Order: sequence, then C-alpha cells, then structure tokens
Amino acid sequence: RPLTKRICCIGAGYVGGPTCAVIAQQNPHIEVTVVDLDEVRIAQWRSSNLPIFEPGLSAIVEVTRDGTDGRQPNLFFSTAISAAIQQADIIFIAVNTPTKRMGVGAGSASDLGYVESAARMIANAAPADKIIVEKSTVPCGTAERLRSIFASLAPARSFSILSNPEFLAEGTAIKDLLNPDRVLIGSLKDDRSMSAARELASVYSWVPHDRVVHTNLYSSELAKLAANCLLAQRISSINSLSAICEATGADISEVANAVSLDQRIGRHMLKASAGFGGSCFKKDVLSLVYIAESLHLYDVANYWRAVNSINEHQKSRFTSRVISALHGTLLRKKITIFGWAYKKNTGDTRESASISVAAQLLAEGCELAVYDPQVSTNAQQIYRDLEDIGTNIRERVRVWDNAVDACVDACAVLILTEWDHFKTDMLADTSTLPENCTAASSDSGIDMLDDGLDLPTAKSVVHDAFNKSDRVDWCAIASVVQRPRLVFDGRGVVDPVALGALGFRVESIGKASVT
Ligand code: NAD
Ligand code: UDX
Repeated sequence: RPLTKRICCIGAGYVGGPTCAVIAQQNPHIEVTVVDLDEVRIAQWRSSNLPIFEPGLSAIVEVTRDGTDGRQPNLFFSTAISAAIQQADIIFIAVNTPTKRMGVGAGSASDLGYVESAARMIANAAPADKIIVEKSTVPCGTAERLRSIFASLAPARSFSILSNPEFLAEGTAIKDLLNPDRVLIGSLKDDRSMSAARELASVYSWVPHDRVVHTNLYSSELAKLAANCLLAQRISSINSLSAICEATGADISEVANAVSLDQRIGRHMLKASAGFGGSCFKKDVLSLVYIAESLHLYDVANYWRAVNSINEHQKSRFTSRVISALHGTLLRKKITIFGWAYKKNTGDTRESASISVAAQLLAEGCELAVYDPQVSTNAQQIYRDLEDIGTNIRERVRVWDNAVDACVDACAVLILTEWDHFKTDMLADTSTLPENCTAASSDSGIDMLDDGLDLPTAKSVVHDAFNKSDRVDWCAIASVVQRPRLVFDGRGVVDPVALGALGFRVESIGKASVT
C-alpha cells in the first residue's frame, strides 16, 4: 500500500481532538481532518477558544492547524463528514460510547448507536476500500459487527477493520500521546489485515517499535476495557481501605505508601479519594459487567459490579461525614465546594464526584458555593450537571470565580478535585507569609486577622504574598469562614498541620476525625 496521505477522524471530542493534533504534529506529511456532527464543537476547534482544556494542546493545535511556525497546516476540523471520508486512507472512529439508557441492557451495556452511525456514514461515502480504526472503547465483538454492517451496506468494497483503543488520561493527554506505555493494534491475521495493521503502526512514527503491540481483534477490544476496570478496581480497593483507616486510626497515605513499595503492587492509582469520576471508569466497568452477564458469568459480573458499588459508597460516606460533623443538619447552612472537574487539569465534569456529593448535600437543605479554577468560567455547565435534581437549584447554588469570595460565611469547605491550586505547600514556606499569618500556630493569629487588624489592610498583605503563586489564599479564607473552620479534604491535597496552624480543623479521607 502507498504511504498514508490522509486520515479522517470521526468524533472531535476529548480523544479525537488531542489524538489527531499529536498525529498531525508528528507526521507533517499526513493531512488529518477531524469531523463531527456538532457544528458548535467544530467551530470551537477552529477558533482560539478550543472546546476542551488540556495542558499543551493549544500550542500543538496552533502549529498544526494554523501553521504558526511556518509549517504547512495539516490539521483540519470540519462538519463535511462525507468529503473527509471519501478522501481518507485511514478512518478513525472516535465517537462516544456511553452506557445505554433504554432497551435491552439499559444501565450497563455500551450504547453502540454512535459507532454504528459512523460506520453507516463510512459505508455510504467511501468510494473504495479503506482502513477503518476503532478508537472508541467498545465491547469485544464490535469489529465483527462493523464487518457485518459493511458487508450488507457496501458488499463490493472490503474494508480492513482494526482495533486501536486509546489509553490517554485527561489532564495528561498530550504527555500520554507523545510517550505512550503502549500502542495496541488488534487485527485479523490474514495478509491484508496485517498489512493494514503495519500501515496504522507507521502513523505512530514517534513511538518506539517495541511499544507497539499487535493482538487479535477480541484481545485488543477486551484489553482496553480490562485496563480501565483494573485501574478503577485499584481505586475502589484503596478507598475501601480508607474506610477502615478512618474507623481505626490507621492513615491511608501511610498504608498506601507502605504497600506501594512492594514492586508487584507499585505506586500508581492508589490515592484514596472521595470517589473516582470521569466519563470512562464507571461506564467501562458497567460494560464489562454486561458482557459477563451476557455470557452467564454472574459471579464474574458481581465481582466487577462491586468496583462501582464501592465508588458510590465512598461518595456517600464522604457526604455523611460532612453532615455528621455539622450536627446532622444542613438546613440553611452554606457549604463551599472547591473543585468541580472530575480531576485536575481538565474542565471535564462528566461523572465528577462533586456532582454526587453536591446532590446529596442539597437534599439536606443547604446552600452551595462552588469554585473550580477551570469550570467556574462555565457556570452553566455546573447547573446542567445538577439539573436532574430539579427544584430551585439556581437559587441554592452559586458559582464563584474567586476562592475567597466563595468561602464567605461557609460552615465547611469541601475539596473534591485535586487541583494543585488548593495545595498548602506555600504555607510550609513561612518566609512567603506575612507575619500575622505565620504567627498563627494556634487560633490566636487568626483572631488578630479577624478582630485585631484592619481587615482590608491585612487581607491585601496576605493577597500580595499569595499572588506570587497560583495557590488558594488559605490565610484569607480563615478570616471569612465560620468557626470551627472545617475543611473536608476529599483528595488528600492539603496539609492538616499547616491548615491547623491557621485555625482550621481538617477532616481527611482515610484519616481518623480530629476530635
Ligand atoms: P466525546 O463525547 O468527548 O466526543 C465524541 C464526539 O463524537 C462528540 O463530539 C460527538 O458529537 C461525536 N459524534 C458522535 N457520533 C458521531 C457521528 N456519527 N458522526 C460524527 N460525529 C459523531 O467522547 P470522548 O471522551 O472523546 O470519548 C470517545 C471514545 O473514546 C469513547 O468510546 C471513550 O470511552 C473513549 N476514550 C475516552 C477517553 C477520555 O479520556 N475521554 C480516553 C480513552 C478512551
Ligand atoms: C482513565 C484512564 O486512566 C485512561 O488510561 C483511560 O484511557 C481513560 O480513563 P481518566 O478518567 O481521564 O483516564 O483519568 P484518571 O487519571 O484515570 O482518573 C480517573 C478518576 O479517578 C479521577 O476522578 C481521579 O481523581 C480518580 N483517581 C485517580 C483517584 O481517585 N485515585 C487515584 O489514585 C487516581
């Protein structure tokens, strides 16, 4: 086959956009066109205001899409789907595969409707044989289904179908794409399919050969689901242990560190949290559960279902701890949530733990203030995330673009995203703090701020010190929240001792309550 000249990617989302930007950057000789039905999303990809926030992405898009460093642009975004399909040698399918909402398998099976619609577009538009690449995460057997769709809709053409699942994580997508642990390519074993697999491998020109793994189609499809399920399982395992820590006095970070020193266990994905979020883990675990049930492997299905159950339990446990510390009633109390994104360095809020925690707190009658360094600029997203809850959400939830303002009169501050922004490392470096803040090894320093000093002057001093970093101004927050200045750290980001010195009482996941 001739060298690939054109790639079309169907789906301009969190996978399609960054993946194609990196492919275009690394292969100046390949024209990459990303297409989507969503006109707004494509318009954003063509603008300076990209639809997703991902560190390092905009710099790559500027070069490849706009040719800012003098190179020929080779990354395009378009809604002209048929035209892009017609011209491409390789077509990626990177559309969403959410959990089915109705019909057989509702609530657990993957909805392959978008994959099938993409396949139909290809069958209708492609004039000749093409290489079709499944990038989306799909149940095993999906390539087989695609083959039968093509066989019925385009019997005269023979497409080579490959599985090439994506393993990037949001927030580190560019790093993951540039330096992947592996590139997985599943194919049939006939000469034509193997040649297609080699052609696809050559697109990953920057990845060392020994990291490109070839398997059969079923293995590739299942390996992607398995990877996400095993990662989610590790988090649920550590979170289940965090409950035991809170009840016994063991400290989950010490436990995690001790076990991670065993090289067979390793240190990744062992951070206890208020629960995992994101668009992948929950739905991929559910997809595996459905596959197992379809195969009548009910014990296997139950085993994996428990990974999601523990995650729900963890979010509820966290909320219960807050309610209990606030004397069992939240009526008319104000609670501040720090962090709405499901993890740091993304603006994505899909399945964020914040949504579940907020819903449970609102059901208790409280008012919420929300601050997120990325999502606060898109307050409507937060209201959309809560719209299922119904009544008067907009009156009881206020979104702030400033952390200190969000905390005024709050009974508690809940940290639900591990943004570096919330860290207390600046507090450890006492040379950067104004005197009236460092003096506070007990409540007395804060009292000076609250009661003794001219507050505007004191606050401006504190702000000046903190403006040197992008860290939240915990000194100023101490002066505006209600006593006993409760902080619930659902991500292990703050140092309880440093905040304790400012008069806060910190309750951390996986650590016994401070009495
Ligand atoms: P997304 O929702 O951000 O993007 C999917 C896009 O596909 C949407 O813009 C949608 O409009 C478009 N689309 C759907 N059907 C279409 C059609 N027929 N024609 C044209 N466009 C169509 O989804 P995502 O987060 O990018 O995920 C895509 C796939 O990759 C999923 O299967 C997901 O499980 C998998 N995945 C996601 C991640 C992640 O971090 N988000 C990582 C690895 C794998
Ligand atoms: C995940 C997989 O990591 C990635 O390989 C796959 O391609 C897509 O799904 P993503 O969901 O973007 O990526 O982020 P990830 O870093 O895995 O975090 C998922 C959730 O787990 C986040 O809410 C995160 O805060 C939480 N998490 C992660 C923990 O609670 N503890 C950890 O130790 C790690």
